[in-house]
Amino acid sequence: SDLYCVLGNPIEHSKSPLIHNEFALQTQQKIEYTAQLAPLDGFTDAWRTFVDNGGRGANVTVPFKEEAFALCDTLSRRAQRAGAVNTLIVGGNGLTYGDNTDGVGLLRDLAYNRVALADKRILVVGAGGAVRGILEPLLAEKPGEVVVVNRTAEKAQQLADDFADLGEIHGGGFKAAKGPFSVVINGTSASLAGDLPPLPDNLFANDAWAYDMMYGATQTVFLKWAGTHGAQRLDGLGMLVEQAAEAFYLWRNVRPETTQVRQMLRRMLN
Ligand code: ATR
Repeated sequence: SDLYCVLGNPIEHSKSPLIHNEFALQTQQKIEYTAQLAPLDGFTDAWRTFVDNGGRGANVTVPFKEEAFALCDTLSRRAQRAGAVNTLIVGGNGLTYGDNTDGVGLLRDLAYNRVALADKRILVVGAGGAVRGILEPLLAEKPGEVVVVNRTAEKAQQLADDFADLGEIHGGGFKAAKGPFSVVINGTSASLAGDLPPLPDNLFANDAWAYDMMYGATQTVFLKWAGTHGAQRLDGLGMLVEQAAEAFYLWRNVRPETTQVRQMLRRMLN
């Protein structure tokens, strides 16, 4: 069977082995997928060693997505835009190809949940690596406008400049979040610390959606707050499954069905 892994630090709580082994069962692909702890100063070595031992591909998670980007011999267009790689593939020539499926994962999850984007005003909160990875696929859906706001306003402005050729996008500090928005995506890591970005109250349009790219056993403060303002809510679990499905497709050329795996993970969380 072909070898794959997820590389990260920490890695013990990764759901990726579970997800990919379910995909493999479902599609009858003979793969072995494990979690590998890479040393903080030894990511590239960890990848090379894995390849030397027969590895065919890997998922990359925190904090190595930029390092993965740097080691690739060739990159997909969307990975180039993202400046980060979450999927590594060993080519027939032994070279490493890098892609980024995070953005597509978000978009597939939004489609799965029938969240409309075309012509809508969308607010993205945060301007780090995670947000950089989603802007190209988001703008490809032809929203009316994307507004990026961040604690450090300059980073949001920079992102807006970097993606301005792809559509209507503006950036600023939290005060630049002038509603109503149909979709509000939290791409900050503030949820991890239990923090709520200081967003204005009248943010949500009628029937708006709030999306937190994080997930956990309990609802994030951002989603709780969105709930009190009447928004429909989604956490990042679906995105996790969909980015994995896209990586699996890149490796195996078979597209797994995600519904079952979504349900399994949700049961495990609760
Ligand atoms: P990631 O890969 O998760 O995007 P990152 O590149 O370090 O990680 O970006 C983290 C994002 O979360 C940034 O937008 C950061 O805001 P700053 O650019 O101002 O640092 C945001 N963030 C982290 N903690 C936050 C908090 N407590 N409140 C608001 N924003 C926060």
